[in-house]
Amino acid sequence: MATILRDWSYRYQWLYDGISRLAALSVGGEGRFRQLALQNLTINSDTKVLDLCCGSGQTTQFLVKYSQNVTGLDASSLSLTRAKQNVPQADYVEAFAEDMPFADGEFDVVHTSAALHEMEPEQLQKILKEVYRVLRPGGVFTLVDFHQPTNPLFVPGLWLFFWLFETETAWKLLRTDLGELLRETGFQVDEPRLYAGGSLQVIRGVRE
Ligand SMILES: C[S@@+](CC[C@H](N)C(=O)[O-])C[C@H]1O[C@@H](n2cnc3c(N)ncnc32)[C@H](O)[C@@H]1O
Repeated sequence: MATILRDWSYRYQWLYDGISRLAALSVGGEGRFRQLALQNLTINSDTKVLDLCCGSGQTTQFLVKYSQNVTGLDASSLSLTRAKQNVPQADYVEAFAEDMPFADGEFDVVHTSAALHEMEPEQLQKILKEVYRVLRPGGVFTLVDFHQPTNPLFVPGLWLFFWLFETETAWKLLRTDLGELLRETGFQVDEPRLYAGGSLQVIRGVRE
């Protein structure tokens, strides 16, 4: 489904960022939201980090504060043009997440925020395999995305958000056990950490 607002939010960065800021109030603000998946993660200045589906650099801007070795990947050339302007400290690659132009074991950390809910189930499996491939053994995959709320008070807000901005793939993600998918791909995974009444999940997987 989704409404015209979805297209507009991708066309106009101020709209996308405004909506993100509003939605992030549920976890204490944009800065906190952007760093939820980075908590307790060791990133040094030479850690090789991939921001997968980086968009216009919304989380890349935080990653470059920790590492001088950040690459953003996205399939949208418009988003990458904006990312290069917004966060010039990172390198950027235009490619599909399910077929990344990187060598095996190239990254220490792969991060992705608010992107996996845009993938069809088969595509999601391919992407997780690619993430596993491009991480070095012991490397970490950390993600933040939607989750079925555990607190019923958060259901109407999430449903309204999905109706306005999301497509069927986001509803599918709510029915997907992402942790289990990561385990099936070969990652060692802890229980997801839930935020905003359970409507957001942070999952971390370690490549074996
Ligand atoms: C909702 S935005 C998230 C952007 C950013 N990570 C954030 O946290 O705001 C999803 C991004 O995923 C990108 N994307 C969607 N499918 C993709 C694919 N198959 N490969 C690479 N990027 C993809 C879109 O171009 C878009 O920039």
